[in-house]
Amino acid sequence: SSPVLVLGIETSCDETAASVVAWDGEGRGEIRSNVVRSQIADHAAFGGVVPEIAARAHIEALDHIVARAMADAGVSYDGLSAVAATAGPGLIGGLIVGLTTAKAIALAADKPLVAVNHLEGHALTARLTDGLAFPYLLLLVSGGHTQILLVRGVGDYERWGTTIDDALGEAFDKTAKLLGLPYPGGPAVERAAAVGDPDRFDLPRPMTGRPGCDFSFSGLKTAVRHAAEAAAPLSEQDVADLCAAFEAAVTDVVGDRVGHALARFRAAYPGIVTPTLVVAGGVAANRALRRRLDAELTARGFRFLAPPMELCTDNGAMIAWAGAERLALGLTDGLDALARPRWPL
Ligand code: KG4
Ligand code: ZN
Repeated sequence: SSPVLVLGIETSCDETAASVVAWDGEGRGEIRSNVVRSQIADHAAFGGVVPEIAARAHIEALDHIVARAMADAGVSYDGLSAVAATAGPGLIGGLIVGLTTAKAIALAADKPLVAVNHLEGHALTARLTDGLAFPYLLLLVSGGHTQILLVRGVGDYERWGTTIDDALGEAFDKTAKLLGLPYPGGPAVERAAAVGDPDRFDLPRPMTGRPGCDFSFSGLKTAVRHAAEAAAPLSEQDVADLCAAFEAAVTDVVGDRVGHALARFRAAYPGIVTPTLVVAGGVAANRALRRRLDAELTARGFRFLAPPMELCTDNGAMIAWAGAERLALGLTDGLDALARPRWPL
């Protein structure tokens, strides 16, 4: 039989994205097109994402992005099996733009609509890229989210850990800002850390040694600020040393929290010989973090699966794929589906 073809639209934060994914119902999917317009330049002057600017930029870009995704895939609206869009969680303005556009296309082309949870998109990406079988663990570390999820099936998740304050990407961004580095902070901190001494400043490792898989980063950020104030005025080397210390601290924290999740997974599924942990989110680009995860997982007999970076950060393909998986299970939505700024999995 011919594969299903799903258009996916993502507008929950600062990427305007659309993609067409094909799936024959077994194994992995095939990305027919994947178009992303990043708004980083629109927000850079403000040092972070401005919701009102984001919503307006989505309105301006989305029609064109969708048209390109359809053209790149060589598909007509008639040829689609369904239209999927992120319905939450995220910034309400952007969500409304993307979901309303998807509803209009679904109505005009007489296709089913799938209202997708953005986190489910991240959670299922490894099935699109690698046909990964359930169950597995997901570490999601982005500017808005820091979670460890048990992925048991489509629509079947257990949140084992989350941040009680800042997201990890947010901690990188805030640390960069207070050290005078540009936005987005993650790549800037990583570059500076590469020439820094991680042992010169002694920073805390919040939550480590405690049971469970929750995270906390706001105390660490405050510790960086105090260290920076004590060392002011900061030379370039001071900034590099602070970045290296910060990166070492967050790497230790994530290693500790993930370690607990691996032990818990082992206990829950003793029959799985080599279980998998998948990473997603922009912070997954960080090399020090990847090295630590790789070591931690190898030591415990887990497989480390890191999808290509353009599929770790926000994109339309993950939404199209989640739409295809939900469509296969008959989990479609009415045109009265609502955008939900808060929507835990
Ligand atoms: O998933 P993502 O592209 O977007 C959303 O959060 O919506 O993640 C962006 C976050 C930002 O906080 C950015 O500073 C962080 O990922 N990031 C990094 C690196 N590259 C991006 N953090 C640490 N190291 C990096 N190399
Ligand atoms: Zn995301």
